[in-house]
Amino acid sequence: MKHNHALCCLFAFLLLYNFLTWSKSMLFLTHTATSQPKSLEHNLTILLWHWPFGVHYRLQRGICMSQYKIPKCFLEDNRSLFSQADVVVFHHHELWTGYSELPLHLSRPPKQKWIWLSLEPPINNRDLRNYSSIFNWTMSYRRDADIFMPYGELIAKSTNTTYVIPSKSDCLVCWVVSKYKSNQSRSLVFHQLKKHIPSRRIEVYGQWTNRPLSNKKLLSTISQCYFYLAFENSISTDYITEKLWRNSFQAGSVPVVLGPPRNVYELYIPPGSFIHVNDFSSVKELAAFLNQVAADRKRYESYFKWHLHYDVRMYTDWRERLCHICLHHEQLSEHKKVYNDLYSWVNR
Ligand SMILES: *[C@@H]1O[C@H](CO)[C@@H](O)[C@H](O)[C@H]1NC(C)=O
Ligand SMILES: *[C@@H]1O[C@H](CO)[C@@H](O)[C@H](O)[C@H]1NC(C)=O
Ligand SMILES: *[C@@H]1O[C@H](CO)[C@@H](O)[C@H](O)[C@H]1NC(C)=O
Ligand SMILES: *[C@@H]1O[C@H](CO)[C@@H](O)[C@H](O)[C@H]1NC(C)=O
Ligand SMILES: *[C@@H]1O[C@H](CO)[C@@H](O)[C@H](O)[C@H]1NC(C)=O
Ligand SMILES: *[C@@H]1O[C@H](CO)[C@@H](O)[C@H](O)[C@H]1NC(C)=O
Repeated sequence: MKHNHALCCLFAFLLLYNFLTWSKSMLFLTHTATSQPKSLEHNLTILLWHWPFGVHYRLQRGICMSQYKIPKCFLEDNRSLFSQADVVVFHHHELWTGYSELPLHLSRPPKQKWIWLSLEPPINNRDLRNYSSIFNWTMSYRRDADIFMPYGELIAKSTNTTYVIPSKSDCLVCWVVSKYKSNQSRSLVFHQLKKHIPSRRIEVYGQWTNRPLSNKKLLSTISQCYFYLAFENSISTDYITEKLWRNSFQAGSVPVVLGPPRNVYELYIPPGSFIHVNDFSSVKELAAFLNQVAADRKRYESYFKWHLHYDVRMYTDWRERLCHICLHHEQLSEHKKVYNDLYSWVNR
């Protein structure tokens, strides 16, 4: 990748407090998503029936408290604890692929809750009609799930800090895509965008381009580009992934998003922190806008103002995600609930 030293210097500046127009008092939905640990009256046992995607993690006793400060919450993966479990969690992928089965032969304690867990978009959740009238709660990135588990969120900093925008090369837009499919919307938008941006100013990575990018180099590579194409592989309700939180925000590249509508993103992140593909009537206009912003230092800087007041927090460890169930247990337990038509819920 070519470096333009003049540009590097230009962008190695500090953002100052007085640049601020966007207020810290703004409250995002996500701040209520992961509320402060509430003390539980009783110890809770959360039993994970099988590990998501077959990847096992160590579960030392008391991990919810020792690692995540969630008291009286015990995460287990030993199936012989079934009859004592307050909650049993089933990750959908292993169910529909036949790797694991629901323990329908066991007698289910009357107060035990079964959770349907998936952080995948609807298109990857197959055979849902087989699972009607089984689950009590859902756990997903959807805001209307019983246990809302976003891929990431912004957390208010306790003190204002400075932020240094990573130095930029000549790269205007960067895209990293592992499972490329030519007929996805994101691919269609990308190919149109390519027509309006000189190829030397676009960097694309992933197996399909013969330019794989290791996890180790991911953020430092993206950070050199002005914009990152945070294009979701599936456009579905509330589906916003690490493409936004990690690949764009943590890398220090401004996200150009394709996914749910702008108003949904604005529940999670400040309006001036991202560019939405839908803001433009054509991809040509989008390309022109990206060129303009990259050439205008002040305007480009403005997309980073939120860094002064917020940190990105990502949820990537299944153990942490599962411990969060305890935070919601008491409130959810007030009413009986059954998902009689899981298929319709997932696909709405
Ligand atoms: C809850 O778990 C802790 C730690 O295992 C144990 O010391 C305590 O006695 C338990 N409380 C109840 C009410 O079972
Ligand atoms: C699971 O729990 C049972 C009963 O408490 C115990 O006998 C068994 O050793 C446990 N299995 C593992 C793998 O820890
Ligand atoms: C789920 O339903 C499909 C048909 O929709 C069927 O072929 C499959 O065997 C079912 N799987 C289970 C586990 O019941
Ligand atoms: C951070 O900056 C904002 C806006 O300038 C100000 O209102 C707030 O009091 C500051 N907070 C701290 C902790 O310094
Ligand atoms: C994309 O192509 C695959 C086969 O390659 C097909 O199964 C799928 O339905 C297509 N999707 C769309 C949105 O056209
Ligand atoms: C959980 O769902 C089952 C249906 O599979 C239902 O019989 C049971 O009453 C539900 N329990 C709660 C506490 O909602």
